[in-house]
Amino acid sequence: MRAIAYYDYGGPDVLQVVDIPIPEPGAGQVRVAVRASAVNPADWKIRSGALSFGEPVFPQYPGGEIAGVVDALGPDVTEMAVGDEVLGWAVAAYAEYAISNAVARKPAELSWVDAASLPVSVSTAAKALAALKLQPGETLLINGAAGAVGSMGVQLAVADGVTVIGTASAANQDIVRELGATATTYGDGVADRVRALAPDGVDAVFDAAGHGVLPAAIELRGGTDRIVTIVDPAARELGVTFLTGGPRPVELLHQVAERVASGAFRLPGPARTFRLERAAAAQEESEKGRGPGKVVLTVS
Ligand SMILES: NC(=O)c1ccc[n+]([C@@H]2O[C@H](COP(=O)([O-])OP(=O)(O)OC[C@H]3O[C@@H](n4cnc5c(N)ncnc54)[C@H](OP(=O)(O)O)[C@@H]3O)[C@@H](O)[C@H]2O)c1
Repeated sequence: MRAIAYYDYGGPDVLQVVDIPIPEPGAGQVRVAVRASAVNPADWKIRSGALSFGEPVFPQYPGGEIAGVVDALGPDVTEMAVGDEVLGWAVAAYAEYAISNAVARKPAELSWVDAASLPVSVSTAAKALAALKLQPGETLLINGAAGAVGSMGVQLAVADGVTVIGTASAANQDIVRELGATATTYGDGVADRVRALAPDGVDAVFDAAGHGVLPAAIELRGGTDRIVTIVDPAARELGVTFLTGGPRPVELLHQVAERVASGAFRLPGPARTFRLERAAAAQEESEKGRGPGKVVLTVS
């Protein structure tokens, strides 16, 4: 099968199309014939060497989320069948086939590209909201509310009765409002703008974009309590919680997929799509760090 691999850290040009054996699913796993595989900022950060999880082992096979058709079952898998259309988290996902141990059924009305855009956003946003222990009626600030993760955070929080203020660029203010939040711009003076929108203060802050917002978040909260970031390495020295990884909430993913299919939830913008073999161009697009809309590889 065709897959994308790299043999050293570097720029997008280290990404190569390779021909490797189709992987076999183990216990608890399914093999998915991939229709679309989303690109996450972590993919280019790991490829460049900026983000590392220990000693590198090459070749590396990037990609962490897919939509496609179940093609083979591991020995003990009973809840899925060959031919099921699914979306989920996967490994080595820039490929024609990928292995997953966490897939949800894809609603028929949801496109492959939109389905592949959901898993990482859903799991990351859900983990952040859970860590913040939000209650209905509380006010949450989300930095980067038009991004893939931020926009999912807005909608999950609003669905739980939380009032959300979301930051985005001037161009994406309407999108943030359409997601159900009060919008403001990020950058200099953000603490003053948020205070004007929430005179009684914010109960929690979810930094889904970085760019040095944490001091303003601490100022708004009067301390580091109930602030989380998924991006900013300054968190450690500031005493703010940095979240990474976490559980793969298959049932929630299924519910969100149904809500997107029915129009109750929306993606912040249309995906920017690239063919699998153009993974380098796709990662360059992801590296721009601008929404709205996910960067997605189409596979077959
Ligand atoms: N730790 C984890 O587990 C985890 C998991 C997933 C993602 N992440 C990280 O989370 C970040 C967001 O991921 P994503 O997939 O949501 O990316 P994304 O869709 O590219 O969104 C990035 C967002 O950042 C916003 N942004 C750009 N400049 C900004 C600034 N100066 N201040 C505030 N916001 C700014 C953009 O808003 P505009 O488009 O309006 O400019 C955009 O919406 C990435 O750094 C990613 O690596 C971490």
